[in-house]
Amino acid sequence: MILLSEPFFGGKEWKYVKECIDTAWVSTAGKYVERFERDICAYTGAANAVACMNGTSGLQIALLLAGVKPGDEVIVPTLTFIAPVNAIRYVQAEPVFMDCDDYMNISAEKLDEFCRRECLLTKAGLKNKKSGKIIKAVIPVHIFGNPCLLDLIMKTAGKYKLKVIEDATESLGTYFTSGKYVNKFTGTIGDFGVFSFNGNKIITTGGGGMIVSCNRREAEQAKYLTTQAKDDPIRYVHHQIGYNFRLTNIQAALGVAQLEQLERFIQIKKKNYKLYEKGLENIAGLTLLGVPAETRPNYWFYSLLVDKKAFGLDREQLMKKLQEKKIQARPIWYLNHWQKPYRHNQSYKIEKACWYWERVLNIPCSTGLKPQEIQSVITAITR
Ligand SMILES: Cc1ncc(COP(=O)(O)O)c(C=O)c1O
Repeated sequence: MILLSEPFFGGKEWKYVKECIDTAWVSTAGKYVERFERDICAYTGAANAVACMNGTSGLQIALLLAGVKPGDEVIVPTLTFIAPVNAIRYVQAEPVFMDCDDYMNISAEKLDEFCRRECLLTKAGLKNKKSGKIIKAVIPVHIFGNPCLLDLIMKTAGKYKLKVIEDATESLGTYFTSGKYVNKFTGTIGDFGVFSFNGNKIITTGGGGMIVSCNRREAEQAKYLTTQAKDDPIRYVHHQIGYNFRLTNIQAALGVAQLEQLERFIQIKKKNYKLYEKGLENIAGLTLLGVPAETRPNYWFYSLLVDKKAFGLDREQLMKKLQEKKIQARPIWYLNHWQKPYRHNQSYKIEKACWYWERVLNIPCSTGLKPQEIQSVITAITR
């Protein structure tokens, strides 16, 4: 079976993990946790990083620190994995769903239009005219490693006093190559950024996450909250309700070893993307989703747009055919404004997201894919 997205271990993973076990530093204390935080800062240019148990918990803490309170609202794309939407509910706020752009990222234009037409800037913050609630934040998600139009999003957020929490769980390694944020990595531009090291991500710790922030005090607070809010760790005094969200040393050891290889992984994934691009270019009705200009994406996932009329099969039929050939392919996520827990939530002019939802099929993208496996996928699709 050629799987959709498998982890790739090709460096010092065993050495570092063995060291944790040999020294018995396996839990949340231990030198690798802080080393991983420092390494993420060095790689991305983030000023502060706090390791946590996964991206979802990182988003939850970032929302809390952004000042999102029960009854507030947070703008989030409908086209995303459900985790950031659930994180909004974990802090007892409500999502407002936004449409996507041509890279499946949150539409910066509609976001601005929504704030301008549907909201009022008040002393208490941005008031949603329909619900009467205050919108505290927006979560741009860098879908499949392609960066959102942060230039516009940050402008809108500044104008309307929204905190920006970048969901960079899929985009570690992605940066801008020109414009206002030239050489800036996704995750390091908003008020907070969150990475994930889940098993399917570009680097993995099995499960893991990282909160980054340019504000040292907020980063300290993130560490405090993710480690049970210990005010006196010897006498077990706690002034706040904390969480057991810290990453373990074993996981961090894996992360340090994986991060050492990230640039090589991105080069391989870019090369594989080009192989697919060339192999699929002449098939009517199929388009490999491009990458935004003036960016260096991490090429995490490869999304194929299937036009049934021209190709002859729809996305589901193609997925089934590939499955028969032992090739795993997957559609994009069922849109969040259609999900049972969120059907009652407000959504704004969702059009493009539905279009993409109908057409996208993600094809195998593991870093360890061999050229002959890529050729097998191309041949199967061509046939
Ligand atoms: C867009 C997005 N946000 C959040 C998450 C949550 O990350 P984690 O699985 O580490 O909790 C994921 C992936 O898993 C994701 O793809």
